[in-house]
Amino acid sequence: MSTIPVKALRTLKIRVLRHNPADPDSTPNMQTFELEEADSMTLFVALNVIREEQDPSLAFDFVCRAGICGSCGMIINGRPGLACRTLTRDLPEDITLAPLPGFELIADLSVNTGKWMRGISERLETWVHAQGLDTVDVDALETPMEPELAQQLYELERCIECGCCIAACGTAQMREDFVGAVGLNQITRFRLDPRDERDDADFYELVGDDVGVFGCMTLLGCEDMCPKDLPLATQIAFLRRRMVAV
Ligand code: SF4
Ligand code: F3S
Ligand code: FES
Repeated sequence: MSTIPVKALRTLKIRVLRHNPADPDSTPNMQTFELEEADSMTLFVALNVIREEQDPSLAFDFVCRAGICGSCGMIINGRPGLACRTLTRDLPEDITLAPLPGFELIADLSVNTGKWMRGISERLETWVHAQGLDTVDVDALETPMEPELAQQLYELERCIECGCCIAACGTAQMREDFVGAVGLNQITRFRLDPRDERDDADFYELVGDDVGVFGCMTLLGCEDMCPKDLPLATQIAFLRRRMVAV
């Protein structure tokens, strides 16, 4: 009679870069936690077990636990990723976690991506620009959109603003004002939207220099690390070709 092999679970050593900038006595330091791995454990679950059983002061963010809200981005063994979508079984026993670079540190693994994303949204005016939108008849039927175009827009809107592309981008780490792949993805989205009356010259004004498309050095970290598999580098290359023609 055959028996089902039971996978031996491991003792994980999770090293976390800890620091609370709001606490004048805090200095950056690595703290190691040990815990027994559970079947199908995600890093999100592991961090919650640590917080519940070992250290309630450990700071990290999560909302959805399903790769949708974008709040659990962190550096996992040197690479940006989502804690809720990372299974511990796909990692070695020794795991090192750090906050995403390029964002304001709140504490430990918690960074203020929301503030950064809002700033980019305001700079790039990521909303539909159309004359008379404020007097629009909300009961009127919208002009139909071709399904292929709607699908294209939907694809670009899959961005969850997790910040992994910024953490993975050398340019974004070197210059604070670079809009990054997430910003350029937004520009592509509104450029394609037939309801937006801005033209290529208007978009050139926003990203036609080295804080935008010409700052990108095609390092490709954004596309490699995007948890939603958005074709970021391809879009940037396309935008750059359009901008050259303006
Ligand atoms: Fe995250 Fe990808 Fe959006 Fe960047 S483009 S914020 S990596 S989902
Ligand atoms: Fe950065 Fe992606 Fe360009 S990693 S340099 S935005 S291709
Ligand atoms: Fe929402 Fe991970 S908790 S993406």
